[in-house]
Amino acid sequence: PLTLGLVALAAYLLGAVPFGIVMARLFGLGDLRKIGSGNIGATNVLRTGNKLAAFLTLVLDAGKGGIAVLIARALAGEDAAQIAGFAAFLGHIFPIYLEFRGGKGVATFLGTLLALAWPVGLAACGTWLIVAAAFRYSSLSALVAAGLAPVWAVVLGRGDMAVLGALLAVLIYVRHAENIRRLRAGTESRIGKKG
Ligand code: G3P
Repeated sequence: PLTLGLVALAAYLLGAVPFGIVMARLFGLGDLRKIGSGNIGATNVLRTGNKLAAFLTLVLDAGKGGIAVLIARALAGEDAAQIAGFAAFLGHIFPIYLEFRGGKGVATFLGTLLALAWPVGLAACGTWLIVAAAFRYSSLSALVAAGLAPVWAVVLGRGDMAVLGALLAVLIYVRHAENIRRLRAGTESRIGKKG
């Protein structure tokens, strides 16, 4: 239990690093919280027009979830890996460094799934990409990918990940409340569009 607790704490602290804010600052793009949706994720970095900064945010926010899982697995096994993935995800959406006002968790969710079970992760990424290609809404793509993650886990023989997948999906839906409202009102911004 002590090991699991330490693994969870370390994963949380890693997950809490807001790479979107870091990249926006490094690239001189200003305060991400005052741009577009105000969210700290890659989608919002893209609204600045800087594709490299957005790409790095996506990779690093996903990577922190993946790394947390891989280190936890190496140190303490598969249960610890799932706990670490969940803790990193919680770190991203409730970061101690930003007074617990964090992001929506989509990149970290994808990175975590890829490291826990790459076929499930690939299926989630594929779902995101297909919905994004069809509708050009990052939020809608995330909502469909998150909602289907537990289904993919079961279909791909990783039923042991279904509960975690469902938990992450619920949190992603809660964090997208504003986006859901905008999607229904027809005012959600398309990928890459400013504002
Ligand atoms: O990854 C977050 C995305 O689903 C929505 O971001 O900035 O459009 O609220 P945003």
